[in-house]
Amino acid sequence: MIEKLSASEAFINPTIVVENAGMKKLILAAAVVSGLIAALPAAAQFQKPEDAIKYRKAAFNVMATHFGRVGAMANGRVPFDAKAVAQNAEIATMMSPLPYSAFGEGTDKGDTKAKPEVWTEGDKFRAAAAKMQEEMTKLNAAAKTGNLDAIKTAFGPVGQACKACHDHFRKE
Ligand code: HEC
Repeated sequence: MIEKLSASEAFINPTIVVENAGMKKLILAAAVVSGLIAALPAAAQFQKPEDAIKYRKAAFNVMATHFGRVGAMANGRVPFDAKAVAQNAEIATMMSPLPYSAFGEGTDKGDTKAKPEVWTEGDKFRAAAAKMQEEMTKLNAAAKTGNLDAIKTAFGPVGQACKACHDHFRKE
């Protein structure tokens, strides 16, 4: 089922390899969310291009908020709380596929910082999205262990994956 979903919705990549059994539930939940989106034709997902732009920004912001809370504890700005880290990492991971469902046709103009390269270099954009989701999944697995060192190690690559995409695909 997951394989099929990823083929039908190119912007969403729930086929992240999961070795940890505990992760399976989360990935399945993410796939169900993705599946609900993938089941609708792109044009029917959002009534207007503005709605898609609003949605993807909102999804990025929610993801960034929870990712930031993990970061605050990973780098010691906020006292470490294993349960809070695990909860925030899980939410960020759940959110991580969602923005990419909202970069459909006609959403390149308007109140957006997305560069034209999102559409002219679609494969590269999707690869950058997949890379970020992969690193986020590793961070989530680390967060579940409650081991601060593992969380610190896993945090950096996620931030780098965000930055790599922003540098190329998002306007200043
Ligand atoms: C595959 C590319 C890609 C990746 C990976 C990515 N982003 Fe973005 N992000 C974008 C694009 C494109 C926009 C601009 C969206 C728009 O303005 O329509 C954006 C916008 C944002 C915004 C601003 C939303 C707004 O209100 O304007 C935030 C916050 C954000 N991203 C956070 C993150 C974080 C945190 C990560 C990593 C955990 C991340 N992004 C990973 C492409 C990416």
